[in-house]
Amino acid sequence: MTEADFSTANPARIYDYMLGGSANFAVDRQAADKLLALEPQTARYMRANRAFLRRVVAYLARAGVDQFLELGSGVPTVGHVHEVAGGINPAARVVYVDNEPVAAAYGQRLLADVPGTAMVVEDIRDPDGVLAHPDTRALLDLDRPVAVLMMAVLHFVLDDERVAEMVTAYRDRTAGGSYLAVSHSSGERHAATRQAEEQYRSTSQPFRSRTIEAIRGMFTGYELVEPGVVYIGDWHPDPGTDPYAVEGPQVIAGGLGRKPQ
Ligand SMILES: C[S@@+](CC[C@H](N)C(=O)[O-])C[C@H]1O[C@@H](n2cnc3c(N)ncnc32)[C@H](O)[C@@H]1O
Repeated sequence: MTEADFSTANPARIYDYMLGGSANFAVDRQAADKLLALEPQTARYMRANRAFLRRVVAYLARAGVDQFLELGSGVPTVGHVHEVAGGINPAARVVYVDNEPVAAAYGQRLLADVPGTAMVVEDIRDPDGVLAHPDTRALLDLDRPVAVLMMAVLHFVLDDERVAEMVTAYRDRTAGGSYLAVSHSSGERHAATRQAEEQYRSTSQPFRSRTIEAIRGMFTGYELVEPGVVYIGDWHPDPGTDPYAVEGPQVIAGGLGRKPQ
């Protein structure tokens, strides 16, 4: 595991703070507070993203998917995949992957006594490292359908070709009937998103927004589940369980696709 850097704000820990978690430090909270000063809705955007993840996982678990690979998971808490999937199917298996040392250490401790789960410390840009990891191999059977979740993470991969290569590699290594879910910053016409991009340049991980068309392009080889790639608040909205409706412009888009048999 790479050494934890406590002197530079980190997106995993900023996100954890915005969700109400405890795996964060003063430097992260200061960066989060700056983001909130620029755009008071930022915490709602992040919570809306987590709510989207929860709706996608519930949809998949109800459709019979029982294997999940969450790439760029952050800290696996505050209503994460195993809690939602396990609530529908207690036999569901979940592998979380993150390369941020604090998120990973917290995750490993949190999941130590949760059967059917693991926190793998790998760079998701290395699909071989992720898929060949002993914990991945122990929990996931890649000959059966797996849901690969890339939620709020691909905007940290700045190079378009690298994104395409990665998505293709995971697609090609998973069985027919597998799924890909993506959520991604898509607020390029939103002034506060551009300012946030600016501010993230001083964190350990800059990000870049992409258009809905570019995000749709990530689903090459998948059949999109209705309504396709849209702003996440419009994807199977569930006002009963989702208290994080965003007022004003939405800035995160996402979708779910199924690899044909
Ligand atoms: C904003 S959080 C998203 C958490 C979760 N997926 C969700 O949607 O609720 C993004 C996470 O991606 C992780 N991340 C970014 N680039 C990564 C990489 N190349 N490999 C592994 N994790 C990465 C960060 O450390 C962070 O924890």
